Amino acid sequence: MSTSLAGKPGDAPLGDLDEWDEFLEGRYKEGKTQEEFRVYDATATPSVAEFYRLNHEHQTLDYVLAKEKLYFSLQKGQKTIWEAAEFLNTLVDDSDPDTDLTQIEHLLQTSEAIRRDGHPRWMVLTGFIHDLGKCLCLYGEPQWGVVGDTFPVGCGWSKDIVFPEYFDKNPDRHRPELQSKYGIYEPNCGLEKLHMSFGHDGYIAEVMKPYLRDESLYMLRFHSFYPWHRHGAYDYLCNDKDRSMLEWVLKFNQYDLYSKAHTKPNLQELKPYYDELFAEFLPPTLAW
Ligand SMILES: [Fe+2]
Ligand SMILES: [Fe+2]
Repeated sequence: MSTSLAGKPGDAPLGDLDEWDEFLEGRYKEGKTQEEFRVYDATATPSVAEFYRLNHEHQTLDYVLAKEKLYFSLQKGQKTIWEAAEFLNTLVDDSDPDTDLTQIEHLLQTSEAIRRDGHPRWMVLTGFIHDLGKCLCLYGEPQWGVVGDTFPVGCGWSKDIVFPEYFDKNPDRHRPELQSKYGIYEPNCGLEKLHMSFGHDGYIAEVMKPYLRDESLYMLRFHSFYPWHRHGAYDYLCNDKDRSMLEWVLKFNQYDLYSKAHTKPNLQELKPYYDELFAEFLPPTLAW
């Protein structure tokens, strides 16, 4: 499994990044009660629990500011969308090559499900690109710094973040100025002003910021912010724009969680449609 090449040994408790997606799928299975959510958390596979333990321990404000400085300046070179997708595809899960889909096939499943339901073209594009930021693994970032539910740093943690007990070991716990309800932020300052725990969401949103509309950027930036979009947490940091964008993020989340199937999309057949789609919204190459 090549994802475990990233980071130091012990930074990769998940067999592969999809294991986190599968955890989310089980956790947010349609029709689940609050009680069932808690049972699912307690009985999560040990690797998922270990993954969140590392994530919650290491995602501090200083960690996030350093990673934002490193990656949000987009100094990793110019790539087309296809090149970025091919690069991500080198994260191959070789545990079961017959049934597992490649990363590109996963992206196409999401975007094709959005397309089938007649949503606007910018949303189909968003479906295709939303996980391209997982290439952070290939830059050497550990799994816990690439995937996982996201949350704001620099203010008190919500109890709606999965496995909140693991924040006990986070050094920010000993910085009272970061532990109050608002921390370093102003009431209702808006989600765009927050420093979110670092991961693939924020990175792909920065890459796409010059080109895509707010609805799309919200889907990209906040698609793993489950405490907010699924649990209603952090409303006291939200402004009216965030509240109006929430419906789009939720619309998108349905496809992110539930469009996985084992049929392989036919890339060669679909390629002309996507070539045109990329050209409609994006320049030929982008800074990553
Ligand atoms: Fe994602
Ligand atoms: Fe996804």
